[in-house]
This record gives sequence, structure tokens and C-alpha cells, in this order.
Amino acid sequence: MARRVLVTGGAGYIGSHTVLQLLREGFYVVVVDNLDNSSEVAVQRVAELAGGFGKNLAFHRIDIQDKEALEKVFHTTKFDAVIHFAGLKAVGESVQKPLLYYKNNIIGTITLLEVMAAHGCKKLVFSSSATVYGWPKHLPCTEESPLHAMNPYGRTKLMIEEICRDVHHADNDWKIMLLRYFNPVGAHPSGHIGEDPRGIPNNLMPFIQQVAVGRRPSLTIFGTDYSTKDGTGVRDYIHVVDLADGHIAALKKFFDDPTTGCEAYNLGTGKGTSVFEMVTAFEKASGKKIPLILTARRPGDAETLYAGTAKAEKELKWKAKYGIEEMCRDQWNWAIKNPWGYGLPEPPN
Ligand code: NAD
Ligand code: WQD
Repeated sequence: MARRVLVTGGAGYIGSHTVLQLLREGFYVVVVDNLDNSSEVAVQRVAELAGGFGKNLAFHRIDIQDKEALEKVFHTTKFDAVIHFAGLKAVGESVQKPLLYYKNNIIGTITLLEVMAAHGCKKLVFSSSATVYGWPKHLPCTEESPLHAMNPYGRTKLMIEEICRDVHHADNDWKIMLLRYFNPVGAHPSGHIGEDPRGIPNNLMPFIQQVAVGRRPSLTIFGTDYSTKDGTGVRDYIHVVDLADGHIAALKKFFDDPTTGCEAYNLGTGKGTSVFEMVTAFEKASGKKIPLILTARRPGDAETLYAGTAKAEKELKWKAKYGIEEMCRDQWNWAIKNPWGYGLPEPPN
């Protein structure tokens, strides 16, 4: 019988890509999402892209803080594992509204863990982030690097990691993977699902994309005086489809390796790319010129961040396949097919 997986936040950017890969791998998937930062259209498109496997997908519009609603979902389906993406993720907003972030991300996770425990489902994959490394002194960041969050969003990730370690320590029936994503970009090669941020994008790639399709006049580059190859910040960008596959690898380890405990894994490529390099690669993929405004550093930004990938390669038997060229190609394909994301054009000002 097909393994059953609950995916929280499965309508979102990384969630929707992961749900598609899960369906294609033969899993039965239930998505819960409150659609706070996503659209049900993404779930419909995933079902279409999955072809015959699309029938193995169910969706419930639920806030994971709503324990009663979650209980109902667990009553109707016995899950083999949970992949937990649901959370708020905008760093700047978390500084403005810390309580919203602590409540949504931490209370939401605790509620989920309580309901899982009550129903005897003790396998969890959690979306952590490279943000837990702060501004690292040594590179690449390995899973043993010191942890230091720089903002309320990052602290929610760090606290949830600690909660997971404590939960496993108290009851080692719990199997937990803390997947630390580096910078997810790109889109499914079909161009039918991708990232669709609400409002002004916080992250580099969606911003570049919106400039390329004419939704915004220019890209502002935050800092050209870093001690990097060209003065701009360096990050480890990872294709979202590679990232999605990392979750399948994590689930396989749960089911194949009874010794699994509570472990953190970096999901990155191990390669650093600068902002200027990313802009050039996107210009090449799209054939569009991206007008630039060069300004001061963004407060709280690290200079350089990239992953050590040895642990995930060895223990999850997973390695990123795609490079910057494919990331930009697929992001552009999504952009031209869906210049307004899943929604309608914004009214003119
Ligand atoms: P996203 O906003 O596209 O997806 C998150 C989803 O969770 C959204 O669909 C949102 O509606 C849903 N959600 C939020 N709070 C909820 C709640 N209380 N109940 C139910 N649903 C809720 O973001 P994403 O980029 O797909 O990120 C997924 C996860 O990965 C997040 O936890 C994020 O913090 C983490 N992460 C993202 C990045 C990144 O750069 N995108 C990097 C590292 C980690
Ligand atoms: C990348 C580079 C910017 C926008 C964030 C979160 C992190 C994780 C991933 C969730 C930096 C520069 C950006 C722009 C720019 N998310 N930049 N102009 O900051 O590495 O990480 O997303 O967990 O927690 O902090 O990603 O895409 O915002 O920035 O010059 O308009 O692009 O300064 O060097 P970041 P990013």
C-alpha cells in the first residue's frame, strides 16, 4: 500500500514542488495549508502535473494552530510521516511582528507535534534554514558549525530545532530530520508551478524575475563592498526541484534505516554565487537587461554563505544536480508563462 504523508504548507513554494515529487514517487499525500502565503491554484496544478498520480492528493484549508481541525485530519488518515513546511518566512516582517512569528511558527509546530504524538505518527521532516548559521566564521557551513540566529524568524527555526531535539531525547521513537535549506530558487521545468511571493519580494531571485517581466523598474543591489570576488554577497542557490528531491531522500532514510534519530542536514549545492553573477546568469537566460541600483548593505546580511554537503551526500544519498543556468532557465520559464504568478495583474497605481 502507498505510504501516506501529511505535508503542512504544501501549497507554498517549496511544498508544492515537493508534493509533486512525492506523488510521482507513489506516495499518498494530504496537504494542509491556511493559504496565508499561497494559492489553492498551486495545489490544482500539482495534481494536473502528477497525471494519474493526481488522484492521490487531498487538500484541507487548515491553520496548523487549529488543533481540532488537525485532529480530524489525523482521524481520517493514518500517516507514515509528516513533512512540515508551514511557517512564516519573511525576515524583515519577523523583526516588525515578532509575536506573530513566534506564535505561528512555534505554537503551530508544537500543536502539530502534539497531534502527531497522540496518533502515534513520530516521523517528521522539518524545514529548517541556513539562517541558523548566522554570519559564519568558517566556510563551508557544516552541520557542526556554531548556530546563531540573527532575527526572530531565524530564532523560530533554531527554537524548533531545539524542541525537536528535546522531543527525540525524551522519546527516541521519534525520528526527525532537520533539513537546513540554503537559497531555494528556480521552478518546475514545466513552468506551471513556481514561487509567487505576496507584495514586494524580499529575496533576490523573485525580485530579478519581476524586473525582467516588467513588474518593477530595477533591482537594488544591497552592498558592493563585501570582501568577495566582485564585492556583492555570495550565497548557495539551490534548484527547488533538487530541494524537493532531498525530502524524498529524507523519507527513504526514515523507512530504510531503523537507526535514524534526530539529525540535521544541509541541503545546498556547496557552491557560492555572487549577486552580480546571478544577475548576469538571469540576463543570459531571459535575454532581458536588468537595470541595477547599487546601494548600501542590507542590515543583518551575511557576506558569504554556502553549504558543506558531505553529510547529506553520505547519509541521505542525495546530491543537487542542477546549476545556476538551469535555475535561471526554469525561473524564467515560470515567469513568462505566469508573469503575475497564480493571480491576476495588479491594478495600475
Ligand atoms: P511559502 O510561504 O511559499 O510556504 C509556506 C506555506 O505555509 C504557505 O503556503 C503558507 O500559506 C503556509 N502556512 C504558514 N503558516 C501556516 C499555518 N499556521 N497553518 C497552515 N499553513 C501555514 O514558503 P516556502 O519558501 O515554501 O518555505 C517553506 C518552509 O521552508 C518554511 O518553513 C520556510 O521557513 C522554510 N525555508 C524557506 C526558505 C526559502 O528561502 N524559501 C529557506 C529556508 C527555509
Ligand atoms: C541573497 C543575496 C542580498 C535582494 C534569505 C533569508 C534566509 C532564507 C533564504 C528562509 C544577499 C542580495 C537580495 C535584493 C540584493 N530564507 N539581495 N537585492 O538573505 O541569503 O536569505 O532567504 O529561511 O533565512 O534570510 O536571501 O535572496 O534575500 O538575498 O542585493 O533585492 O541577494 O543582499 O546578498 P538571503 P536573499
